[in-house]
Amino acid sequence: MTVITCIDDLHRLYRRRVPKMFYEYCETGSWTQQTFRENSSDFSRIYLRQRVAVDMSNRSTRTTMIGQEVAMPVALSPVGLTGMQHADGEILAARAAEKFGVPFALTTMSICSIEDVAAHTTKPFWFQLYVMRDEDFLRRIIQRAKDAGVSALVLTLDLQMIGQRHRDLKNGLSAPPKPTLANMINLATKWRWGLGMLGTKRRQFGNIVGHVKGVSDPSDLMAWTAEQFDPRLDWKKVEQIRDMWGGKLILKGIMEPEDAVMAAKIGADAIIVSNHGGRQLDGAISSIRALEPVLQAVGDEVEVHIDSGIRSGQDVLKAVAMGAKGAWIGRAYIYGLGAMGEAGVTKALEIIHTELDKSMAFCGHRDINEVTRDILRVPRGFSGDWA
Ligand code: GLV
Repeated sequence: MTVITCIDDLHRLYRRRVPKMFYEYCETGSWTQQTFRENSSDFSRIYLRQRVAVDMSNRSTRTTMIGQEVAMPVALSPVGLTGMQHADGEILAARAAEKFGVPFALTTMSICSIEDVAAHTTKPFWFQLYVMRDEDFLRRIIQRAKDAGVSALVLTLDLQMIGQRHRDLKNGLSAPPKPTLANMINLATKWRWGLGMLGTKRRQFGNIVGHVKGVSDPSDLMAWTAEQFDPRLDWKKVEQIRDMWGGKLILKGIMEPEDAVMAAKIGADAIIVSNHGGRQLDGAISSIRALEPVLQAVGDEVEVHIDSGIRSGQDVLKAVAMGAKGAWIGRAYIYGLGAMGEAGVTKALEIIHTELDKSMAFCGHRDINEVTRDILRVPRGFSGDWA
């Protein structure tokens, strides 16, 4: 077996080991995938400034996110169907994050339930909420999160409807997969994945199957979102949810300064500059380009985090140097999970940590809290100058 040295190595293994339907669910963006691609490629348009003859001993990437100590300014993003990428995926990822000392956010659309993840971890995790039409469900899931000791609610604001991802429609994405001929042929080559799935009971949307009534196909993500997600979610509703929750609140999916101002006014503890990994509005600019205008608008009032396109420690460093207090990774850890389970998530975190730590040092810093925009060369007009 090859020695794993980078996220790309995990990606290659992941692609080989996980059923095509789930690989493509993860690895896709909406429509033309322009935003999905540019989320990553725009990071490579920013350059780092190499400094020399600086003492590089005693380095630290430790910092805080919403007041919580973290080993590095990285959090694991909520990713739908994580437990289909690997049996018990959410539990494994949460454990790896806990051991590493970074936050894990469980999605509403997870396979392992909130209660299940709480039972298999020892520290509080974060929970990402999708707002359903069913008010009663909303109240109950917020209560369930409180009962499980969740320490921050991540409210997603950019998915009242799901953006079209062609591959998911063509593949008939479902959890668990349907026994069609095409699926059976593909699954026959994924014995490691299949053995894992045979060994677990967790194969459905654990937070919602049995908790919500009236969905036409409980295995279908598109059916859930179309039939259950509340298209009326607006700022008034966000305030209601803030009050129902009463704890730390992170608002996810902010791309424009006007919305960032609203989020700050509402009293969010953090916002995540995010275009949902390029999975919703295709044609939006990349998150890294959207970051600075948002920072200029609200950077003094609320913690600004970022996701979408982050695949390396160098990407994390660039985001942090621009002023983000946290960089969220989704696909980068899912590759590790699908490739090697919990050990793969740990590997992904180790790779990103090493890249972050060494690159920070090459830029002349020993403490991540002292890194500023001075270490960057950002092309003129990168963040705006739109006509
Ligand atoms: C859900 O969050 C998705 O992007 O598929």
